[in-house]
Amino acid sequence: MTRLRFLHAAAVLAGVAALFVSEPREAAPEGPPVSVPAVLNGCHLCHAEYVKEWADSYHGKAWTDEMYVAAKNATPKEKQATCNPCHAPNPTQGALGKAPTLRSKNQHEGVACIACHQIPSGKPDDIGTIVGPLPAEGMVKGHANKQDKTMGTDPRICISCHGTDKDHNQYDSWKGSQYEKDGESCQSCHMPEVKRAIYDKKGALPKDAHRHTMPGAHDPAMIRKAALIDALVAGGKLKVTVTNDGAGHNFPGGGEREVVLIVTVMGADGKEAAKYRETFDLRTKNNRIKPNEARVLEFEAKAATGTVKLKLLYKLLPEQDEAKAVVAAEKDVKF
Ligand code: HEC
Ligand code: HEC
Ligand code: HEC
Ligand code: HEC
Ligand code: HEC
Repeated sequence: MTRLRFLHAAAVLAGVAALFVSEPREAAPEGPPVSVPAVLNGCHLCHAEYVKEWADSYHGKAWTDEMYVAAKNATPKEKQATCNPCHAPNPTQGALGKAPTLRSKNQHEGVACIACHQIPSGKPDDIGTIVGPLPAEGMVKGHANKQDKTMGTDPRICISCHGTDKDHNQYDSWKGSQYEKDGESCQSCHMPEVKRAIYDKKGALPKDAHRHTMPGAHDPAMIRKAALIDALVAGGKLKVTVTNDGAGHNFPGGGEREVVLIVTVMGADGKEAAKYRETFDLRTKNNRIKPNEARVLEFEAKAATGTVKLKLLYKLLPEQDEAKAVVAAEKDVKF
């Protein structure tokens, strides 16, 4: 029996075993079956919920997503090869924190499970040793396991790709922040907890596990957690405060993005008295808002009484149509 067929048989057996325990694995979603890509080394055979979440995440789309493909094609040919390694990486275990190398197989699978979890054995189609946060003791294993107790709490596992390139660096601004001091790592915000059936000797009982959805710049709910805005008018001056209240790193997080503050002052007569805008980005102004920083901007009030309308937009690319940008925060302040 080939290694892969053996694994398939093991998966079927694991499935059969699951029928005899009190708590089944997550119920299959209703409706048509969800198609998921074949993940390198067949992880989907035994970890279907993980694969489904990952396939919908930008790790699953890292090679195929339109924005990446367009940006790569717009990069001079001789430099394109520098883009690829993080978007279709070889396993990073053993070289955590170092920029990854390009995988030659199944590049369309992007940041595949093996990028974070695998120590390859060197044999083709072999799962190798899987590094994870759970204790290996008592676990029914589909493969060899090595426990890394720090995997859920140490940003090390993220740094190879999120800390070695200036455009895609969340680590440097997280480092030294209050979040680091409070022990809130990348995983605390980007890998929400979920109870999930994990096999051990007692069967597949619900245990603390973590979603692999990695919500970020493409998730409006996540964007709305990031910032607060407020204003006050005193002595003819208008002071607007933009606070990075929920991103554990610079806001906006990535070098491609742009945050736009739009301030409209409406006089007591209901007419527009003044309009201001400010952008926060890496590329042109290099003025992103640090974690927990309250950035104060001062303008002329241009009216004695009225309303200040504040709006903060999050743009995935500077050229994105503002009408399509996510509203990160919005507030009207009377004065
Ligand atoms: C060091 C690893 C690394 C390298 C090298 C790299 N990227 Fe990325 N890329 C990332 C990470 C991490 C993200 C996640 C978002 C962020 O940090 O901006 C990303 C996101 C992107 C996005 C946003 C995609 C989206 O759907 O929103 C684009 C576009 C992109 N990269 C283009 C490129 C191009 C073009 C190059 C080569 C010039 C490149 N990247 C090189 C790691 C890398
Ligand atoms: C034959 C079935 C099978 C296959 C295939 C399989 N696994 Fe597993 N894996 C298991 C079982 C059973 C466990 C025990 C925990 C559980 O039920 O999720 C486990 C545990 C894990 C853990 C937790 C380990 C720890 O110590 O925290 C990780 C991570 C993991 N697998 C990743 C992978 C990846 C990545 C792949 C593909 C390269 C893969 N698995 C393929 C059955 C399998
Ligand atoms: C970007 C890195 C990364 C990728 C890609 C990734 N994982 Fe994980 N995985 C983690 C981290 C980090 C943890 C530990 C989370 C924690 O403890 O907070 C984890 C935990 C796990 C666990 C242990 C139980 C749990 O939920 O904590 C399993 C099982 C697992 N991953 C399977 C997979 C499978 C299957 C894939 C591919 C579909 C995958 N992972 C892709 C980083 C990754
Ligand atoms: C091996 C490289 C690699 C590692 C390791 C890695 N990432 Fe990523 N990550 C990427 C790439 C590449 C993208 C961007 C994919 C795209 O949009 O094209 C990305 C995207 C993301 C996004 C979504 C960004 C968006 O635009 O919405 C989040 C959130 C994220 N990663 C968090 C993490 C966390 C947390 C860890 C550590 C547990 C981690 N990543 C480890 C390469 C990696
Ligand atoms: C306190 C919660 C929190 C922590 C801690 C945190 N993030 Fe984020 N992250 C967010 C929020 C909110 C956003 C969305 C707004 C933004 O872009 O800054 C985000 C956005 C992102 C993005 C998308 C950026 C883009 O432009 O595509 C990536 C990638 C990311 N985080 C990775 C990380 C990594 C890596 C770490 C650890 C070094 C980390 N995050 C720590 C909350 C957090």
